Amino acid sequence: MKEGSSVRIDVLTIFPGMFDGFLDESIIKRAQERGLIQIFLHDIRQYAQDKHGTVDDYPFGGGPGMIFKPEPVFRAVEAVQSQASPGLVVLLTPQGEHYEQRIAKSLAVGKRLLFICGRYKGLDDRIRTIADREISIGDYVLTGGELPAMVVIDSMVRLIPGVLGDEESAWNDSFFQGILDAPQFTRPRVFRDLSVPEVLLSGDHEQIRIWRKKEALRKTLQRRPDLLENISLKKEDKRLIAQIKKENRGIE
Ligand code: ADE
Repeated sequence: MKEGSSVRIDVLTIFPGMFDGFLDESIIKRAQERGLIQIFLHDIRQYAQDKHGTVDDYPFGGGPGMIFKPEPVFRAVEAVQSQASPGLVVLLTPQGEHYEQRIAKSLAVGKRLLFICGRYKGLDDRIRTIADREISIGDYVLTGGELPAMVVIDSMVRLIPGVLGDEESAWNDSFFQGILDAPQFTRPRVFRDLSVPEVLLSGDHEQIRIWRKKEALRKTLQRRPDLLENISLKKEDKRLIAQIKKENRGIE
C-alpha cells in the first residue's frame, strides 16, 4: 500500500463506544491494520460550549423530545475538516436518500469521508447545510445514526481495492452484479434428506457457471423482479430467463 493512499473516515457521534466491536473485528479491523483505511471517532460532546457537554435542547415551537443543537456539530465538523483536506460530509438520517449498493460504490472511490450520526428526536435543520449528502438505510427509525453509519462504512469499505482478498472479492456479490446470489452449498452432500444439486458435484465448470447464473436469475425473478429493470441483460441472461418462464408455465 502506497503512503497516503489510505481512505480516511471520520465519525462524529455522542456514543463512540458503540463502534468498539465493529472497528475491532474482522474485515474492518484487517483493513485498518493493512493501512487501507483509517477511522477516527469524535465525541460531539467535546465540542459542546458548556462544561456539561450539552448537545441537545428543546425544539422551538414546542413538541416532545430534545433535538441536536447546531453549534457542537458545526464546531466538530470544522475541527475535523481543518485536520486534513476536507472530505465528503454525510449525515445519517431517516429523511435521507435511500442507501443502496450504487451509493456504496460511489463512496468507496473517495479518499475522505465524514459521517455525522444524529440522535434523539432529530436535529436542528440548519445542521443539514453542513452535509453534502444525507443517507437513510431504510424506512424505519433507529435511535440514532450510529448503526446506519456502521452499515454504510461496512458496505463501502469492503469495496475498496485490497480490502477483500481475491477469493472474497466483492465482484461476485449479489447486488454487485445487480441481481441476487445463486444458492450455495457445502458438505455434506446429503443433509437430512436434502441433497446438493448434482451439477455442483459434476466438476463441469461451464455447466456450473450456467446453473449458477440461471438460479440467480430465477431467485431475482421470484423475489426482486424490480432489480432486473435496472441492469442490461446479456443474450445468455435473456435466454435463461426465457427458459425459467417456460418452466414456470409448465408448473402453473
Ligand atoms: N437515524 C435513525 N434512523 C435512521 C435510518 N433509518 N437511516 C439513517 N439514519 C437514521
